[in-house]
Amino acid sequence: ANDHLVFFAPSGKRERFAEGTSVLEAARKLGVDLDSVCGGRGICGRCQVVPVEGANPKLGIESAADHLSPWNAVEERYTSKRGALAEGRRLGCQAKVCGDLVIDVPPDSQVHRQVVRKRAEAHPIAVDPVVTLHYVEVREPDMHDPASDFRRLAEALEAQWGVRDATCGLAVLKTLQKVLRKGGWTVTAALRGAEVVAVFPGFHERALGLAVDIGSTTIAAHLCDLVTGDVLASSGLMNPQIRFGEDLMSRVSYVMMNPGGEVEMTAAVRGALQDLAEAVAREAGFSADQILEATVVGNPIMHHLFFGIDPVELGGAPFALAVDGGLDVPAADVGLALAPGAKVYGLPLIAGHVGADTAGVVLSEGPYLKDEITLLVDVGTNAEIVLGNKDRLLACSSPTGPAFEGAQISSGQRAAPGAIERIRIDAETLEPRFRVIGSDLWSDEPGFAEATAGTGITGICGSGIIEAVAEMLLAGLVTPDGIVDGALAERTPRVVGEGRTFAYVIREADDKGPRIAVTQGDIRAIQLAKAALYAGIRLLMDRYGIASVDRITLAGAFGSHIDVRYAMILGLIPDCDLAKVGSAGNAAGTGARIALLNKASRAEIEGVVRRIEKIETAIEPSFQAHFVDAMAIPHKSDPFPHLEA
Ligand code: FES
Repeated sequence: ANDHLVFFAPSGKRERFAEGTSVLEAARKLGVDLDSVCGGRGICGRCQVVPVEGANPKLGIESAADHLSPWNAVEERYTSKRGALAEGRRLGCQAKVCGDLVIDVPPDSQVHRQVVRKRAEAHPIAVDPVVTLHYVEVREPDMHDPASDFRRLAEALEAQWGVRDATCGLAVLKTLQKVLRKGGWTVTAALRGAEVVAVFPGFHERALGLAVDIGSTTIAAHLCDLVTGDVLASSGLMNPQIRFGEDLMSRVSYVMMNPGGEVEMTAAVRGALQDLAEAVAREAGFSADQILEATVVGNPIMHHLFFGIDPVELGGAPFALAVDGGLDVPAADVGLALAPGAKVYGLPLIAGHVGADTAGVVLSEGPYLKDEITLLVDVGTNAEIVLGNKDRLLACSSPTGPAFEGAQISSGQRAAPGAIERIRIDAETLEPRFRVIGSDLWSDEPGFAEATAGTGITGICGSGIIEAVAEMLLAGLVTPDGIVDGALAERTPRVVGEGRTFAYVIREADDKGPRIAVTQGDIRAIQLAKAALYAGIRLLMDRYGIASVDRITLAGAFGSHIDVRYAMILGLIPDCDLAKVGSAGNAAGTGARIALLNKASRAEIEGVVRRIEKIETAIEPSFQAHFVDAMAIPHKSDPFPHLEA
């Protein structure tokens, strides 16, 4: 008689509750996802709900706002301290049931909210981090009770949150007494399982985490709100290890030649990461000591150096990793000054050349969840390749060299303002038009000179050289064998002899910049790189036993800049419906963010990585044959029907 039917939307859970039960209690009973950090004290405002008005004949409920107890003093206090609740909202921990009700739990009051991602094919991230906040009121010490401050905190966590056997490391203990007294015996404990990783005086509502992608060239960090999943600030830095060597292998050689060199490099990368942590925290209005958890991805050498493991074994066959599973270590052990008990989680490594960055890409793209067969390609100095679907995943790396990054190209440079990134060649006149990074205009449009006055025209970047070679092929300037056709020197002064070969001149030197040409050597470098990439891909396709793939996703900076049509014209990637070829942007960094925001994703990616079949291209007899066939543009024999369409 004195109980009322309560129906929760959107979960659809319902039950009868005694008059006077709070909405938060009812939700907890039913397992409805309703957040709370303060434990129902009317402080945090996370438990907001909306009573739905009106009769619902299907449920047999007449629901109304006054079927909840009237606004109480705690809600008044909340409003005066923290601002008014939005129209129609109540604090679920204060509003008590006094009639039949339909209660709507808005998305921002759910613990497991979903972060929807921008790309249509990317699955949403469920926010459920390893570290969560718990506000508690702790008993004051007195002369009759010898229990320590931590003992009383642990008791409070058990009594108020059901957390049994809380533990705490020395670094947190050192802060505990001050914090308890500063908070007037109320604190917010950040818990990782039952371990207290930080304590804040009074009510504290920010849980911060850091997701880091350690690339050999740049290090990028995102500061995330562990409650909402939002990225609060992002920043990047050049990897300071560059002073020990431009590419990965030269850094490993540095270690081999200079005993103790790995210690210097470890210190360099950790120092940069600490700087980044402080920069992003400051940008968002916090300090680095409030960061409760960090996750890290990187290729095997970057990973080992960051964790302080000598990478020397990765410098030569058989490329043995020291460890391949996920790593979970105190931040202080890897030289980071974050919250006192903060931990750093490193995603698992796949193989000697296929790192935690690729594991991040796999976690972000989720090919292991799908029926369709996805090809993931991350191109740097090495291409890291993953192929498969929910039944089977294979991975390998292929030695593409740095040509796709603009290195080893006569006019090549990194993608930076002033670099040619787009180019078109008129098949009739053989005249080029191009665009440089930093300007929206093509070289034959009015205003181009002014638009590039600041940057000049300095060279050609990786995506530019790919377009240049592909356009040269389409215009007949290059044969499918990759030879610059010297006979065309009769038709255009842009084809010029250089020794026994020919080059195509995009521009002559002038006051805006140097001469930029595509030489025979440049085309060879691109052919070698693309043949290595394609051969690695074909090797995996052979192993899987398929002749085509359903989707191709290019990860990393290279994948974001390149025009996928040109990648296919050159035969970097196999034939595929162009609508299903796309860029995932910094998917490795997104993988780090997922591992930060969702604790279950860690075991998930560790399990997936263990199941991945690792193929070593260097010892595969068929790799060489695939490589030779892939030297032709686009390929000696493989068809590209989607290019004809
Ligand atoms: Fe914190 Fe209701 S649970 S305000």
